[in-house]
Amino acid sequence: MICVPATSHRYPLHCEAQLRRVFAQTMPAVAYTNGRYGPIAEAAISIDDRGFQFADSIYEVAAFLNGRFLDWGKHLWRLRRSLAALHIKGVPSDAALSAIAHRLIARSRAHDGLLYIQISRGVARRDHPFPAASRPTLVMTARRFGFTQRIIQQRTGIAVITLPDQRWARCDIKSTGLLPAVLAKQEAAQAHAFEAMFHLPDGTVTEGGSTNMYMVDKAGTIFTHPISAQILPGIARDTLLAIARTNQLRVEERAFTIDEARAAPELFLTSTTAPILPITRLDDAAVGTGKPGPVTARLAALLWDEVEQQTGWRADAAPFSAF
Ligand code: PDD
Repeated sequence: MICVPATSHRYPLHCEAQLRRVFAQTMPAVAYTNGRYGPIAEAAISIDDRGFQFADSIYEVAAFLNGRFLDWGKHLWRLRRSLAALHIKGVPSDAALSAIAHRLIARSRAHDGLLYIQISRGVARRDHPFPAASRPTLVMTARRFGFTQRIIQQRTGIAVITLPDQRWARCDIKSTGLLPAVLAKQEAAQAHAFEAMFHLPDGTVTEGGSTNMYMVDKAGTIFTHPISAQILPGIARDTLLAIARTNQLRVEERAFTIDEARAAPELFLTSTTAPILPITRLDDAAVGTGKPGPVTARLAALLWDEVEQQTGWRADAAPFSAF
C-alpha cells in the first residue's frame, strides 16, 4: 500500500503506523555514547554523570545540509574554548571528533539535520569539586531538521518578546546550564513568540534565549552586541558579520537598547538552527512596517549563497514538503 504523509490523517490508523515505522527505519535518529553507536532511545549514561547532576558539561549544535557540515571548523574551535573554560581534559582530538560526527550523520541517513555534541566532566560520586580521576563523557546525536521551515519564516517574519536577562556572568561558555533560557523560551512560546530578547537592567540588549540579536538603523547600519562574557560568540553571527562586511554593508559591534530596538526599522536574529530570521513583532508592536525589511532580506540571500558554497544546498531547490 502506498501512503501519502502530507494528509496521513485521512488514511486508516494502521496505514499511519506503517508510515511511522517506514519513516523511522529510513530516517533513524542516532546517538554516539562513549564509543557506542545506536538508536537514541537505547543510548544511556550514568545518573552519576556530572553533566546530569551539576550541568558540569558543555555542548555544540552544528548544522549539516546535503550531508555536509556548515562552519564545522568554527564549531570545533568553540567546543575547545568551552572545554578549556571548564578545565575538562582528555577529550578526543578534533580529527577523532570529526570522524565520529561524520560516521553518525551517515548512519542517520539524514541529508539535512543537526548534530548535537555534549561533553561532561564524566562520572563520579556526587561532590562539587572536580573528581581526582574521571573520564569525560562524550555524547553525540544526529537528527533530521527541515531548514525549509526557516525559509518560510524568512518571508513571514517572527515575533519576539522582551525579558530581563537573568543568566550568569559567563554566557560566552556554551554550558548545558540553560535553565534561564528554558524558562524564557517557555514564556515566549506561551506568548506565541519564537524567541525572547534578553536585556540588562539598563536596557542593553544582550542576545536571545538561544540566538544572537541584531538591529538595523534608518541608515542601514547593522548593530549587534560585541563579543563579551555577556553573550555566546555565535557561529552564525561570525559568518553573518563576515558576509555583511565582504558585501560592503555597514556593521557596528555595539550594543543597542530595548528603546532603540523598539524604534528600529529592522530587527533580526541568527543561530545555527535559525540561520537568519526577521523579527516583525516585538512584544505588542510591529517592527518597522511589520514586514521583513530589505537589509535582512539581502543578508538572508547572501547567507544562503554561503550555505550553498559550503554544502551545495540550494534554498531555491529546497523540498518544501520535507517537514
Ligand atoms: N543555541 N546565543 C545563545 C544563548 C545560544 O544558545 C545560541 C545557540 C546562539 C547562537 O549561536 P550559534 O550561531 O553558534 O548557533 C546565541 C543553540 C543553537 C541551542 O542551544 O540549541
